[in-house]
Order: sequence, then C-alpha cells, then structure tokens
Amino acid sequence: MKIEKSVAIVTGANRGIGRSLVASLVRSGASRIYAAGRDLKALEPVVALDPKRVVALKLDVTSERDVEAAAKSAPDVNLLINNAGVLASYNILASSKEQVTEDFAVNFYGVLAVVKAFLPALERANGAAIANILTVVSLASRPVIGGYSASKAAAFSLTQSLRPELKAKKIDVHTVIPGAVDTDMIRAFPISKTSPDVVADAIVSGIQRGDEDILTDAMAQEAFQGWLKNPKEFERYFGAL
Ligand SMILES: NC(=O)c1ccc[n+]([C@@H]2O[C@H](COP(=O)([O-])OP(=O)(O)OC[C@H]3O[C@@H](n4cnc5c(N)ncnc54)[C@H](OP(=O)(O)O)[C@@H]3O)[C@@H](O)[C@H]2O)c1
Repeated sequence: MKIEKSVAIVTGANRGIGRSLVASLVRSGASRIYAAGRDLKALEPVVALDPKRVVALKLDVTSERDVEAAAKSAPDVNLLINNAGVLASYNILASSKEQVTEDFAVNFYGVLAVVKAFLPALERANGAAIANILTVVSLASRPVIGGYSASKAAAFSLTQSLRPELKAKKIDVHTVIPGAVDTDMIRAFPISKTSPDVVADAIVSGIQRGDEDILTDAMAQEAFQGWLKNPKEFERYFGAL
C-alpha cells in the first residue's frame, strides 16, 4: 500500500522500534500517525516529531477498555502496525506462570484484540494493511527465551490465519521479522544489533512494496532462508544457541 496520505497507528510508539516507525512514517508522507502507548506523557517527544501529523493515543493493548476507546478515537486508520511487545519470560521451565502469561497477554492476545477492534476501520478504508512485528524466534524457539519465543510463534500463526481471511476485504497482512535490534528489550544481550531506525525504514519500505514477509536486516534474512531451506536443521541450530 502507498504510505503517502495513509493514516497509520503504531502500538508501543513511545520508544524503540515503535518510535522509529513513527519517524519513518512521518518522512514517508503519512497524513496522520496515531502514536499509541501506555503513558501519554512518554509520547510527548514522539508527537514533537511532527505535532501536525502525530497524534498521541492512550493504549495498553491488554486493556479491553483502552483498545475499544482507541478504535473509537481513530476511525480513519488504514495501516495498523502491531509493534507493542514484551520479553517477560526467559527459559520456559525457569519462568513463572505470570511471566509467560504476560508474554502471551501482550504479544499474542494484545495483537488479536487490537486487530479485531480496528477491523471495521480497515474494512471501511477499502485498501488497508496490517503489519505484525514478529521475530526470528517466531520461526523456531531459542530456549534461553523460550516463553517469549512461544508467544511470538503464536503471533506468527495468528498472522498466517489473518492473511487469507482478510484478503477478500482488501487488507494486506505483513509478517515482519527483525533480527536483533538495538533497543531496551535486548539491551543486556552482548550480540551484534541493527539500529531501530534502519529496521523501521525497512518495515515501511516492505509495506509500500507489498512484501508478505518483511525481513528487516541481514540476521533476519539469513534466519528466514535457513528456516525455508530446512526447518528441522534450523530448529536444531537455534536450539543449541
Ligand atoms: N529488540 C529486538 O531485538 C527485537 C527483535 C525482534 C522483534 N522485536 C519486537 O519488536 C517490537 C518492539 O520492541 P522493541 O525492541 O522496540 O522493544 P522496547 O524498546 O522494549 O519497546 C517495547 C514497546 O512495547 C510497549 N509495550 C509493552 N507492553 C505494552 C502493553 N501492554 N501495551 C502497549 N504497549 C506495550 C512498550 O511500552 P512501555 O514503554 O509502556 O513499556 C514499548 O513502547 C516488539 O514486538 C518486539 O517483540 C524486537
């Protein structure tokens, strides 16, 4: 879809990839960008990127009330970017039920709730798109972050089930797969990471081109190719990392 003159919403827009996505959409000519986040105060610097086009929206994706209110306040959206995410659980056996539940609440149920709430607006747009920010560990689990991996694998499956379902409604559904990105989420991991600005630009370009699977960086491209070539070998490789 064309980004110029589009009306987008980005969840988790106050920092990390979400904030970079808002900046990228501003540069690409979106006419309005709803920057959604749990804390309106934390969104002030994001609105300052372009106060005429960026609108702050209170949205905790786990709150039914917030999700309903956000969909009412933003009835003109034709591009939904489900970016909000958490890494609450690590090794699946060592994590508490609460930690794993939090990962699923945000990374899976949050995405599902936001998609359902914004569907009427996306249908009305008569040409719209949804981009779900997944990860290489949606493809195969990395046991050190096994709980998070499981929630993101569920979100991958959700994305696959939305795509054919929404095709008839002229809504493109994009799978977005970043590798390691330099944000708060993996601050403590001593690995090579891509800048969130580079990742955000790759996401916006992929949406414009209509790519079904948007692989935002070299790590994501390599992982996706490995998974396509031999999923079992890829599972063993990730399992041993
Ligand atoms: N960093 C990576 O290496 C990497 C790689 C692949 C995929 N991803 C995915 O990319 C997305 C963005 O992550 P990031 O790297 O930018 O991480 P981040 O810097 O930790 O940002 C996470 C964002 O999600 C928001 N969020 C968390 N829980 C929320 C909730 N219940 N409702 C609404 N917003 C919520 C956070 O808001 P608060 O400030 O209020 O907490 C924050 O804005 C996530 O889906 C993540 O899984 C990240």
